[in-house]
Amino acid sequence: MTDENLIQQAAAILRLAHHLAVLTGAGVSKESGVPTFRDAQEGLWAKYNAEELATPMAFERSPKLVWDWYEYRRELVRQAKPNPGHVALAHLGQYFPALRVITQNVDDLHEQAGSHNVIHLHGNLARSKCSANCQGDPTLIDVARLTLDSDEVPPRCPHCGAYVRPDVVWFHEILPADAIQDATLVARLCDVMLVVGTSGLVHPAASLPQIAKQRGAKIIEVNPVDSAITPLADIKLDGPSGLIIPQLVEALEANA
Ligand code: OAD
Repeated sequence: MTDENLIQQAAAILRLAHHLAVLTGAGVSKESGVPTFRDAQEGLWAKYNAEELATPMAFERSPKLVWDWYEYRRELVRQAKPNPGHVALAHLGQYFPALRVITQNVDDLHEQAGSHNVIHLHGNLARSKCSANCQGDPTLIDVARLTLDSDEVPPRCPHCGAYVRPDVVWFHEILPADAIQDATLVARLCDVMLVVGTSGLVHPAASLPQIAKQRGAKIIEVNPVDSAITPLADIKLDGPSGLIIPQLVEALEANA
């Protein structure tokens, strides 16, 4: 676990920051009961096969299986509440009005905690879209408002009849253009990037700390284990974000 000295060093870096960026991954939501992807045993990809559930081909082959799996994940997220890590990150907005949170997560726990203008690189689990994007990309569909005259799962797009799918990024798909453009700009302009709870294995999200570092930004990482980001980190804070981020904010406030 991280010692107090490192927290103080990280707080000192934050104190000098003008443009703070935050990049989060599944680890930040773990203490809210939302499983990560790659943690041994408990991670989603330890239990399920991504190729069978999170690719366009999987949806073509087995639309109901994929839809039902996302319904299961939606239910997990519906029950989840922000944890002290999300709350402390939102609190940082008071010190850094231009703070941008970039997340790979498809939950809305950052927003629920009070973060604004969150950049969602991998979509949003609560939203659905036409799988043919028949009215433009994305053609969002409010599933709750569909008059379901059959029990068909997944539901059908009211415009064109194609299946409705979750508005998330699957393997082999590209990220929403506006999200990755905004995130890249934020990474270029920040002078400190706080990277929380990501394995740093999925690109282009994992390239953002590299972009920031190349431009001279300091990288502070929060993760209970070492990740692919750790070699880039100026400070690595070992531990769960629900514990560490509040300590970091407290240290920042103590000497503000
Ligand atoms: P991963 O599951 O790959 O990594 C989660 C990271 O969180 C690991 O490094 C854990 O050590 C760390 N972690 C676990 N508990 C934590 C805690 N309490 N506090 C802080 N960190 C903790 O998740 P991501 O890096 O987010 O993509 O995965 C990236 C992408 O891969 C996801 O967005 C998803 C997945 O396939 C798509 O769905 C497109």
